[in-house]
Amino acid sequence: MIPEPIAGLDLPDSYDDISQTLKISDMILTNAVENAKTLFHSPTVSSIDESGINSRVMVLREFNLKKRFMRFHTDYRAPKIKQYKKNNIASVLCYDPILKIQIKLQGTIAVNYNNSITRSAWDGSTTRSKKCYSVKGGSSLKISNPVEYDLKDGNIEDGYMNFAVLIFSFTTLEFLHLKSSGHRRALHTWDDKLQSSWLVP
Ligand SMILES: Cc1cc2nc3c(=O)[nH]c(=O)nc-3n(C[C@H](O)[C@H](O)[C@H](O)COP(=O)(O)O)c2cc1C
Repeated sequence: MIPEPIAGLDLPDSYDDISQTLKISDMILTNAVENAKTLFHSPTVSSIDESGINSRVMVLREFNLKKRFMRFHTDYRAPKIKQYKKNNIASVLCYDPILKIQIKLQGTIAVNYNNSITRSAWDGSTTRSKKCYSVKGGSSLKISNPVEYDLKDGNIEDGYMNFAVLIFSFTTLEFLHLKSSGHRRALHTWDDKLQSSWLVP
């Protein structure tokens, strides 16, 4: 039976062909961009700041296996922008308990601000998403009264000046499928070309 969050995708019951683990990862992550019902829609993105590892959930806006990148949107005023510029190493992790599949990717993050990438991402965003970027003060500012920072109706387009696009370019993709009769874990790495290997789960 196809699990409800990924209805429409033909997912196998077990994985014994290593190339299939990459093909299915591609299907799941491509589907997750538009499908908010799967937990793959909101992966955890981890990076390194002055005090150590810092993780946050972000909505997956684009997945491209051929070019090996993921796109995320964020507030340019957030401290993590400066962190990414200092140390761009990042890891993306997502797991959906209904599918029993975990996907982990490692790579680097590039910050885009006020360029053709942000313009096309902004133009493709919904009014609801755009509204978040009009909040005064900017993400992570210490405040005494959160009510004062609730989103207000105003000129939504003004938020563009606070909008940033993060392009996460990955060099490894690890797939893990949990199944009581035998877990399957596969690592795909790209140096010059793709190399795939099974790992002990
Ligand atoms: C379901 C969900 C989706 C989120 N999506 C985003 C997002 O797309 N971009 C973003 O910057 N923060 C997003 N957040 C908020 C972040 O997890 C985080 O709290 C915020 O970005 C501040 O993180 P920082 O202190 O690491 O900058 C989301 C949180 C949740 C729970």
